[in-house]
Amino acid sequence: GAPDQAELLALAVIIAEEAGRMLVAKRPARPEVVETKTSPTDVVTALDRAAEELIRARIAAARPYDAVLGEEGGDTPGTGGARWVVDPIDGTVNFLYGLPDWAVSVAVEVDGEIVAGAVSVPQRGELYSAAKGGGAWLGGERLRCNTGVELGRALVATGFGYAAARRAVQAEVLAHVLPRVRDIRRGGSCAVDLCSVAAGRVDAYYERGTHYWDHAAAGLIATEAGARIGGLRGKPYGTDMLVCAAPGLFEELDGLLAPLDPERDTPAGQE
Ligand code: IPD
Repeated sequence: GAPDQAELLALAVIIAEEAGRMLVAKRPARPEVVETKTSPTDVVTALDRAAEELIRARIAAARPYDAVLGEEGGDTPGTGGARWVVDPIDGTVNFLYGLPDWAVSVAVEVDGEIVAGAVSVPQRGELYSAAKGGGAWLGGERLRCNTGVELGRALVATGFGYAAARRAVQAEVLAHVLPRVRDIRRGGSCAVDLCSVAAGRVDAYYERGTHYWDHAAAGLIATEAGARIGGLRGKPYGTDMLVCAAPGLFEELDGLLAPLDPERDTPAGQE
């Protein structure tokens, strides 16, 4: 029969928390001086891989027929009813520097739709979770996103992809947005930013070029908290630009961003 949503969520939570504990325990206090032969980023890459291997092993032990899509290990097909979408460390730069906003993200799809998601933010001791139709939770606390906030008073989170070519465009977009909102936050983890929308710690979030595993779990958490998540101008969720906010603010942000053509790769005047 169809896998049970509550069981899938319980497993996602256990796995995300275990991987989070492992990463906290193994994170070098000063990643930049730990390795002499390899670069600091390699230390993180090794832990990224180890965490994904742990997650995959736990999924395989509990549900051997399920498929898994992970940032490090790619797409492993399955024959069961579910597909797991995992990001072992979302916010690797924060992880590297010892900033607490990085997350282990574990989502579960059934028939192509996310039905459960867990986001562990272990250095904050926080566990966000949602099952489809069951609300969004921070530990045992029910989450509701902020509503009734107009754009000019909105605290807006965003992020910047690492590709240099896009950064000039992102800066242009930001220059237009910054004077029109309360303020901007660049938290450093797409998953944490979306959970922050769910928790009302920011009013909105937008970013282009994030990956499915970054937002698969946290996107469900945000929608279960009452937020809308999607692309620009009615484009579906999962296209280049991702916007997330309560419905009214979502529309305002869409109206601000879309005319800037923010999904281009060339700065103004250089096309
Ligand atoms: C990154 C974070 C960051 C966002 C980048 C992502 P990663 O994920 O979510 O906030 O700005 O676009 O790639 O690489 O640390 O898993």
